[in-house]
Amino acid sequence: MPAAPPGAVGNVPAPAPAPAPAPALAPVDAAGPTVATQAAGLASAPPAVAVPATVPAIVAPARDAPAKDPQPLTEKQLMRQKRDNLRRESALLPISSAESIIIDQIRKHQVVVLVGETGSGKTTQVPQYLLRAEFGKTGVIAVTQPRRVAAITLAQRVSEEVGTRLGHRVGYSIRFDECSSPGTRIKFMTDGMLLREFLSDADLTKYSVIVLDEAHERTVRTDLLFGLLHQILARRADLRVVVMSATIDAERFSAFFGGPSRCPILFVEGRQHQVVQYFLEQPTGDYIDAALVAVMQLHVDEAPGDILVFMPGQEEIESLEKMLIEQSRLLPANFPLQLLPLPLYAALPPSQQVLVFQPAPAGVRKVIISTNVAETSVTINGIRYVVDTGFVKQRIFDPATGVERLESLPVSKAAARQRTGRAGREAPGKAYRLFTEESYHKNLAENTVPEILRTNLASVVLQMKAIGIDAIHTFPLIDRPPLGALKNAFEHLYALGCLSDSAHLTPLGRKMASFPLDPMLAKALITCGAAEPPAGGSGASADAWTRALASVAPELRSHVSGIVAMLSVENVFHTPLEAREKANRARRRLAAASGDHVTLLNVLRSFGAAGARNARKWADDNFVNARSIAQANDIELQLARVCEHAGLGVIHPTTAAAGYREFNRAAAGSSAGRSAGFGALAGVSDVPSAARSVAMLNGSAVGDNPSPEAADLLRALLSGLFQNTALLEKDGVYRTTISRQRVFIHPSSVLFGKSPPPRCLMFSELVETKKTYVKTVSEIDPAWLAEVAPKYFGRLSPSTASSQGDDGDASTTPRK
Ligand code: CDP
Ligand code: MG
Repeated sequence: MPAAPPGAVGNVPAPAPAPAPAPALAPVDAAGPTVATQAAGLASAPPAVAVPATVPAIVAPARDAPAKDPQPLTEKQLMRQKRDNLRRESALLPISSAESIIIDQIRKHQVVVLVGETGSGKTTQVPQYLLRAEFGKTGVIAVTQPRRVAAITLAQRVSEEVGTRLGHRVGYSIRFDECSSPGTRIKFMTDGMLLREFLSDADLTKYSVIVLDEAHERTVRTDLLFGLLHQILARRADLRVVVMSATIDAERFSAFFGGPSRCPILFVEGRQHQVVQYFLEQPTGDYIDAALVAVMQLHVDEAPGDILVFMPGQEEIESLEKMLIEQSRLLPANFPLQLLPLPLYAALPPSQQVLVFQPAPAGVRKVIISTNVAETSVTINGIRYVVDTGFVKQRIFDPATGVERLESLPVSKAAARQRTGRAGREAPGKAYRLFTEESYHKNLAENTVPEILRTNLASVVLQMKAIGIDAIHTFPLIDRPPLGALKNAFEHLYALGCLSDSAHLTPLGRKMASFPLDPMLAKALITCGAAEPPAGGSGASADAWTRALASVAPELRSHVSGIVAMLSVENVFHTPLEAREKANRARRRLAAASGDHVTLLNVLRSFGAAGARNARKWADDNFVNARSIAQANDIELQLARVCEHAGLGVIHPTTAAAGYREFNRAAAGSSAGRSAGFGALAGVSDVPSAARSVAMLNGSAVGDNPSPEAADLLRALLSGLFQNTALLEKDGVYRTTISRQRVFIHPSSVLFGKSPPPRCLMFSELVETKKTYVKTVSEIDPAWLAEVAPKYFGRLSPSTASSQGDDGDASTTPRK
């Protein structure tokens, strides 16, 4: 049942040229099936949904309208028209016949578990049922999502169905992006955002219903919400909780809330057509290539119908997208179907996400290349074929090394089944699994391991502490994390200065919890290298520290926030295969001799300096991803607001841009930058002026004249990232300072191949392929380690230990 295009209002061809007067009744009253086939025109559209033959055509009322008025529809009329189309469509969803039962059960029970196949209508319909049942009168209806991209697209869709502009009745709230108003009644939000609400309102009094959607994904944040809601329900008899999930784990959820008598499980029947599965005969070493072959084969051999490809992450998605574009050029000119690759991943801007949901025009086959966001969170119509690499990107925390990393791992059987199922939602389909049948049975786990059992719990524990959950070991959880991981989290937070010796939140910890950032980055941004007050310090020393924080130079904090913002976005650089050399040259022009962190700042500031009008061209010329940088720009503005709110003074990112040149100088420590050799490129003439001055400064600073500003900046970052450091050993290999793990500088780093190699590295990421690489790396002065983290790397000498909070001349004695 291909949908009417759910895209932005402006993109939608009006199905009828007259204002369809909306009866504004419950959608069932005006059911009309014709929208579906008419809007899509896909040859593959089968009558998947039985439609009563008696339903009047939806354009019927339009014929009665006066024909003399050819004026284009107003925005409001368009919006209504669209709403009515969507409502007719949603009335055909499997869930719609269960509306009254669902509402009745929710009225009777504080918690209800609702289970149904993906695409049955849970997420888009239940919030509207709640709204119609007047749950919006007593508070906001929150719908949590594990993923930002899902929160946005679902809010868009439901907002259209309700017939109001996004951010009015229906809004969303995700990290760094709030789209709602006081009138908002249905709010899609990431689970992390709802968790943050506990910081300010422990009983969530603003909300009348909390819908925990995609509960089967078992993100750590959803798991925490389970526990918190469990506690709140005891205090708020009026609060309702709806747990929604694909067909996994329902009994455990119900048991957690007291079993079926207190928390019934409702099943929504789905429609699932047969999907023929194909496995590889031999395992593949290159799943991107295998996916390319599979897609091309499907495209050439199979009837029209869109293809959905599951890839682990953005990088792989973009590679396949490019390869598909190249391959499809090789098809004969008269090939009847055009191939249209469309990426879908969390960081994709909303304007592009919309394209995925729009029906392909006639003669075009969409190939949606997605992360597991398309597994259950969003439903895309028109899919007939699935290609599954069998991989998913997961955050894995290694308690042995204390480091968290993002890894591509085999999916679980449950996830593989979900993926396959995407091909059979509307008609029989086919699924190409890019692994062997033997491997499926032997190597795939039954279910995905809940995140809480494999993650770095530091920011989770920090948030729990901030919410006031002190007895973490007795907090109700569906699955309890291993003791080792909890211990690690406590140690990490203690080292950062968030926790006191008695494991209570310190003032710094409290501040850090208010930042939507990894604790390490939050600390860097807050302290900017200012020393903490001595442990168990008096009120006076805490005051001195507060003053020290507030007196950090605003430019310094602004630049730290710029780097933090850049670290929060993905894929800053892109290196097209066909222009690799040019891209590399561009990268070298922007490179700072100290390493990748200041380079990222260079990119951000140069982008800003190019001015709104030239920014895109500047980005293209320099092979950086304008989308990512614009996103970082946004994040920086938001961080400025959070900083101000936290009493850290006012930052003006715009004035900061003027001062950026200072920080582009090379390197920390006297050995830094000597051989980076970027100076030679200083005069390259096709660089816009802003970038040129960057290059020149990089060049001129190479040598024995380190810029104190760059040093301050790196030192400030180190005050958060000191646990992510590595030292060069005698054998010429880097070992991480804490876990003593062998690591190598990633080839994408500006420090890669530098000679002589830096003695000490600070890094933002560990990537494990054949070797363990550090990515986003800067050279630092090893002496700073003891300065910024005396608890870890040294001790303040007796004479300075008693002096309060000023790191000015604290002499240190490294432990080793
Ligand atoms: O939550 P669940 O998987 O049960 O289904 P849903 O997300 O509520 O989707 C119900 C229907 O809405 C499906 O037919 C989707 O294709 C459609 N939908 C859409 O066309 N565009 C969206 N952005 C979201 C949903
Ligand atoms: Mg859903």
